[in-house]
Amino acid sequence: MANATQYTASSPWHPFLWRFTADLNPWTVILTILLVVLVWDQVRYQIKKQNLPGPRLTFPLIGAFFDSLNPTFNGYLSKWESGPLSCVSVFHKYHLHPLRVITRCRFVVLASTNELSRKILNSPHFVEPCVVDAGRKILKPTNWVFLDGKAHVDYRKGLNGLFTRKALGIYLHQQEQVYDKAFKKWLEISKDGALPFATHFRDVNVATSLRTFCGSYITDEAIDRISENYWKITVALELVNIPIVLPYSKVWYAIQARKEVCKRFEQAAQLSRSKMGKGEEPSCMMDRWIKDMIASQKGTQEGPSIRDFSDEEIAGTFLSFLFASQDATSSAMTWMFQYLADRPDVFEKIRQEQIAVRDGDLSKPVDMDMVEKMNYTRWMVKEVLRLRPPVLMVPYKAKKAFPVTSDYIVSKGICPSSFGPKF
Ligand SMILES: *[C@@H]1O[C@H](CO)[C@@H](O)[C@H](O)[C@H]1NC(C)=O
Repeated sequence: MANATQYTASSPWHPFLWRFTADLNPWTVILTILLVVLVWDQVRYQIKKQNLPGPRLTFPLIGAFFDSLNPTFNGYLSKWESGPLSCVSVFHKYHLHPLRVITRCRFVVLASTNELSRKILNSPHFVEPCVVDAGRKILKPTNWVFLDGKAHVDYRKGLNGLFTRKALGIYLHQQEQVYDKAFKKWLEISKDGALPFATHFRDVNVATSLRTFCGSYITDEAIDRISENYWKITVALELVNIPIVLPYSKVWYAIQARKEVCKRFEQAAQLSRSKMGKGEEPSCMMDRWIKDMIASQKGTQEGPSIRDFSDEEIAGTFLSFLFASQDATSSAMTWMFQYLADRPDVFEKIRQEQIAVRDGDLSKPVDMDMVEKMNYTRWMVKEVLRLRPPVLMVPYKAKKAFPVTSDYIVSKGICPSSFGPKF
């Protein structure tokens, strides 16, 4: 007490406040603050969770962060099966400030029915698409996939010419060559018995895509390098990552990989520019795009005129395309192969159709007329996509309070819509 009085004289604090704090042990203060924070964390979780199925309590402060570092299909499946709407809380961001670390919670609501998924996808007023946190760092914030509004529309317009019937016909030749080579290799390596096939499908998808994008401006060796590098990008695009890029972390490797892949695409674009500048015929997507730009400048283009795109923009676009072709397409192809192995009757019909469109000559090169006649094959592909949608989760972010159902309002955070058809 003597001490307290003594200090009161020099302390600007109110004597009562001083007495109060002087009696406190620093540990009591720390533990009290911690307790308040922990309770607040749970209360905040309950406020957002309302009546949704989901864990009764959330893991203190970091939520399902560790689960989301090692996501499993069964983990997602159990969420979907817990009801039309369920939730999970994941801490996702901390801002490093010189004095403190601020953490923010990300609250995720999962929709599992077709009706709810449709509603979310069709509500641009309430939600906007969002990407995983590492996406911007890995793909570069300037990548076209992050554009919005008019800039996005203009960019898209520039890409339309790459997917016309005529353009798709140009790519078939290169694609078929990749397949012929792969079929020979697969027969060879599976001579002694069955092999796991998913990674081989990824390889062939990377090769087909790269030949489609860059034609012969890229070597077989470059294809292997890009395939290896792109794998690093794929593994780093997780739902949550440590938000700062530490050297030798997954995201760091992915950024190095992106730089190398883009460099190779830019080199290919330069080769294509010089060839198209000489007026040669396009034989790949890059050619087609650059030819459209040259024609637009001269006013001689076939379709609508398009703006100029830099080598860097071209590289960034193919970087984004390659993501879907080596990830989602490989997943779809793996399921397709398995389903056809399980259903020899369907497989036989596909085979008959393929023989028929080639008029019985199996060495006949494929063209667009033949592709359009493959009705049964096309239906089979659509059925596989319906049964096993390769993109399981489409994350959206609520821009404002969004009444998803009559008794649940999504307040803030992300609201991924998931397609979970019942098998
Ligand atoms: C494919 O289906 C369409 C209708 O969807 C039909 O008009 C066409 O004749 C079919 N083609 C073949 C080769 O069976």
